[in-house]
Amino acid sequence: MPFNKKIRTLRAFLFEQGVEGTLRGLICEIAEASKYVDYAIKMTELGFAGTTNVFGEKQLALDVLSDELISSRLGNCGLVVNMASEEQQNIFSSFLNEPGEYSVCFDPLDGSSLVDVNLAVGTIVSIYPGEDLVRPGREQVAALFVLYGPRTTMVVGIQNGVHEFTLNPLGSYTLSRENIRMEESGKIYSPGGDSRKYSPGHAALIESLKNGGHKLRYSGGMVPDINHVLMKRGGLFTYPALEGSPRGKLRLMFEANPMAFILEKAGGAASEGTMRILDVEPESIQDRCPVYLGSKKEVALAEKMLKKSASEKKAE
Ligand code: AHG
Ligand code: MN
Ligand code: MN
Repeated sequence: MPFNKKIRTLRAFLFEQGVEGTLRGLICEIAEASKYVDYAIKMTELGFAGTTNVFGEKQLALDVLSDELISSRLGNCGLVVNMASEEQQNIFSSFLNEPGEYSVCFDPLDGSSLVDVNLAVGTIVSIYPGEDLVRPGREQVAALFVLYGPRTTMVVGIQNGVHEFTLNPLGSYTLSRENIRMEESGKIYSPGGDSRKYSPGHAALIESLKNGGHKLRYSGGMVPDINHVLMKRGGLFTYPALEGSPRGKLRLMFEANPMAFILEKAGGAASEGTMRILDVEPESIQDRCPVYLGSKKEVALAEKMLKKSASEKKAE
């Protein structure tokens, strides 16, 4: 790693981009916590914790440990008011008497079922001003994900754009991609869920992408799969509504909203099939949400095909 090259660290870059001090500190705090999660993924014995989360999903020891690593760090940093974790039942407050200025929703370990097959997993974080957390995603001030892959990278969406930082061997996140921008359309698609349960409109969309030459790129992990669409500057990631799960599988507050914020800030689009994800008014912190995330052209095609299929069904 050449020291003569201008190394732009996370904190310095955020300052350069005009991110205000407390938010800058919070993003850096999350970056610090991610180093412990990165280490835990590589060193912790795999296996189940013997507990289930509020979504009825069996928790891995790593899910619980990642959750503890992040919530204890954020709960004691003095920058946060309230927190919500995909792995915990309720919203909880900072452990200090002096609350901070921001509240966060986080998925401490996304794709945890992939750890035992050594595939990439991630952490997803959504940041709101003040203390409320059950609110539309358009009110986020920042969102980020950490991708624990061959390299550990952190993709940060702030008001002025989306930027990638890579964790170097000295434990420092340095800028690796500045101002990531999505093109109008792309060449890959990532089609989540059980295809036997697709709606006719969604099935038609997947066929249309395939016949149009889009290549299948799917690992089963939302963070690496969305990172793939983002870094190839185009395409579509989707996890749709399914027969029996009309709001799909992914969680609005912990997965859909932060990823939607990032995709829109990168010039892409993010829909739940009929409307912008960031405009969805949540009823609870545990709401689920179908997702179509990627280039504007593919997301518009998805909405058009779903709408056409719904009106044909009505006409029957
Ligand atoms: P989590 O591990 O936080 O529960 O999330 C996993 C999600 C997401 O990463 C991925 O897109 C989706 O689950 C895959 O779901 P299926 O296993 O139903 O395909
Ligand atoms: Mn998840
Ligand atoms: Mn998770």
